[in-house]
Amino acid sequence: MSKLYITGQNRLSGSVCVQGAKNSALPILAATVLTKGESVLYHCPDLTDVEASMCILRWLGCRASRDSDTVTVRCDGVSRNDIPDELMRKTRGSLAFLGAVLAASGKVRITLPGGCQIGQRPIDLHLKSLRRLGAVIRERHGWLECRAPHGLKGADIALPFPSVGATEAVMLAACTASGTTVLTNAAREPEITDLADFLNRCGAKIDGAGESELVIEGVGELRGCDHAIIPDRIAAATLITCAAVTGSDITLKGVIHSHLAGILPPFEDAGCRFTAHKNELRVSAPQRLRSMKIVRTMPYPGFPTDAQAPLLAAAATADGTTVMIENIFENRYRHVSELTRMGADIKTEGKFALVEGVPRLYGASVEAADLRGAAALAAAGLCAEGKTELCGVQYLDRGYERFEQVLTELGADIVRV
Ligand code: EPZ
Repeated sequence: MSKLYITGQNRLSGSVCVQGAKNSALPILAATVLTKGESVLYHCPDLTDVEASMCILRWLGCRASRDSDTVTVRCDGVSRNDIPDELMRKTRGSLAFLGAVLAASGKVRITLPGGCQIGQRPIDLHLKSLRRLGAVIRERHGWLECRAPHGLKGADIALPFPSVGATEAVMLAACTASGTTVLTNAAREPEITDLADFLNRCGAKIDGAGESELVIEGVGELRGCDHAIIPDRIAAATLITCAAVTGSDITLKGVIHSHLAGILPPFEDAGCRFTAHKNELRVSAPQRLRSMKIVRTMPYPGFPTDAQAPLLAAAATADGTTVMIENIFENRYRHVSELTRMGADIKTEGKFALVEGVPRLYGASVEAADLRGAAALAAAGLCAEGKTELCGVQYLDRGYERFEQVLTELGADIVRV
């Protein structure tokens, strides 16, 4: 297993282009099974999670290839509708194929998806929604066997929680169903809007993306299209964290400012200054951060749960006390024990984390347990005194493109061994 060796306390400088959004690319890749013809996806990040979805597309009989950051997919219907365990287990994004393949072929057989162990991650909302659309779903020996004996029909669906994945499942299953689907309490994340933009460009009729109510009018056929994936707001938040913890002044290129509106306030409270110019964002961090007081993760447009771990790393050396409230996932503090090994003073109890800022962290050998926790530990290593050995680099590769190269280009001392 490869490791990252980080020697801390280098100041960062310069500018960096933000990668394409992982959580937009994954459902859009699944959506291509609904289309006939070729789709060209620009700004598609080169990640192991994206590669996993491309492997599933090939398994299903589609062609998927990459040329730099452009992925081309050619689908003319699926030649099979089962997805084996070793492909499903690689990422949570594989779950998007459930609704897509069911809609494309009338049946699908998958095992339960993989993904970061940040909670139990049930799929009850996915299954309940698909059943509302006419799916017959049986769970046997870890397999989900889904059929639509009378085809999928539009329905009114209300989510008890604005689940991102369940919203995507409904969009993928309903856009070629017969009749109209109204989804209330839909997720409003930018990745939902990007998926709707892709599907509508393929000929779907989805209204209301980005709002709490989606109206999806079923259409006959979808044809592949060209689409540019939106920038990854969580990758942007991670870069902002790296600048914040090293007292740096860097510029992010290719951002969509409105997507970051819920992310910047805690960093501003901590003393970071932001200057927006066209699609660029300059972040200037103070020598030492102030505490962020209270931060709670919420569905979009609130502060995103995926930025919680990096922000906690920043709070660890801030001057004062920060209270984090993780409202989305029930086990998303696995990075805390490792931050403590670096000298952080953080106590967690259920959804709460109490951070007492310390003057500095110290390099240590730490182990990541999930994607965003790995990013938090790397950020901590950038500001720690001495050398940090980070194990679990495979988690970083799931969601961050060229992680150590990007940071090295900004002046960090970080190597992969
Ligand atoms: C997506 O996960 C993202 N993953 C996650 O990013 C992100 O943290 C999450 O949305 C919230 O924004 C992808 O897009 C591939 P949810 P998802 O359904 O769809 C519960 C990352 O680091 N729930 O909005 O799984 C669930 O347990 C990853 O990039 C049910 O109870 O998120 C959680 O507590 C991590 N039943 C809450 O809802 C269900 O059927 C939010 O889950 C589905 C979800």
